[in-house]
Amino acid sequence: MNAEATLSFDIREHGAPVPASERTERIADPGFGKVFTDHMAVIRYTEGTGWHDARIQAREPLTMDPAAAVLHYAQEIFEGMKAYRLGDGGTALFRPDQNARRFRQSAARMAMPELPESLFLESVERLVEIDREWIPHMDGGALYLRPFMFASETFLGVRPAKEYLYMVIASSVGAYFKGGAKAISIWVSDDYTRAAPGGTGAAKCGGNYAASLVAQAEAIERGCDQVVFLDAAEHKWVEELGGMNLFFVFEDGSVVTPPLKGTILPGITRDSILTLLRDDGITVREEGYGIDQWRADADSGKLVESFACGTAAVVTPVGTVKSTAGDFQIGSGGTGQITQRMRDRLVAIQRGEAPDPHDWVKRL
Ligand code: COI
Repeated sequence: MNAEATLSFDIREHGAPVPASERTERIADPGFGKVFTDHMAVIRYTEGTGWHDARIQAREPLTMDPAAAVLHYAQEIFEGMKAYRLGDGGTALFRPDQNARRFRQSAARMAMPELPESLFLESVERLVEIDREWIPHMDGGALYLRPFMFASETFLGVRPAKEYLYMVIASSVGAYFKGGAKAISIWVSDDYTRAAPGGTGAAKCGGNYAASLVAQAEAIERGCDQVVFLDAAEHKWVEELGGMNLFFVFEDGSVVTPPLKGTILPGITRDSILTLLRDDGITVREEGYGIDQWRADADSGKLVESFACGTAAVVTPVGTVKSTAGDFQIGSGGTGQITQRMRDRLVAIQRGEAPDPHDWVKRL
């Protein structure tokens, strides 16, 4: 372990926390990404010095120079993870080591310094410890953690910045979609692609999400919840949604999900579902699945379920697919058996209500 990996966090309490009665009111039905906790974690990076000034402090606005590099060249990455309230009153994170690892990989792709995984984990754990009362009590409630890092150097030349700010904020959340776990509809984007070979599709960087927004707006105009992107080269292969991975379930019980070839996000929920399916003896293939095949299989009944998954979305059934070539429905348009089983299994492990054979749950 290097010296940076053992930085000690300075806990600075200033500013009054939100009173308990008001907090209870705010977290009763928080929706997604609107209710924030009292604190945040901060670590600075300076070339030559390394990581320094780690602290947990009152959540407050940032002051930035208008020439901060991130505002011009978008050197920014983030993570999404959740802290759960366990049945016995404890608190836990789900596979936080995987988020720490992916954060490093995203940093490497964006020419940013790699935060030691031990510092990532400590920042998240410290923040959850101090703000655990913000975890909603409602069914499906969690503390959504958003670690992120950006180029803070005041400089307009185009090169990797020499100064960065790493932060973690936390938000009390319920379901990501308004309908909760109900089936969503998705729009196939003809005009836009999310990521090309050699691009940043596998990195969790803000730019990927910015690039998805115009297609997402089109999806909403068409009455859909989410957009689905096809590959950039052939415009044939189904890749992922604006912020979630996809799975396809067939009548013979087998399951397919698009492979990780650098253009889609290596989702931690995706990886967990693959493991749970294989645990159940289900045949899973990570292979390309074409949009025309998807339509044909849905129409013939060969495809019986499709679901989206991610930290925010958990496991959400896809009921209808709309496109310029026409619409099609998957199965009954509702929640299929495997989708429900995977959602229940995952949620039960995350909440400490089921055995955890892969040691995914980290109690705090
Ligand atoms: C997550 O699932 O954590 C994401 O970052 C995706 C976004 C739709 C919130």
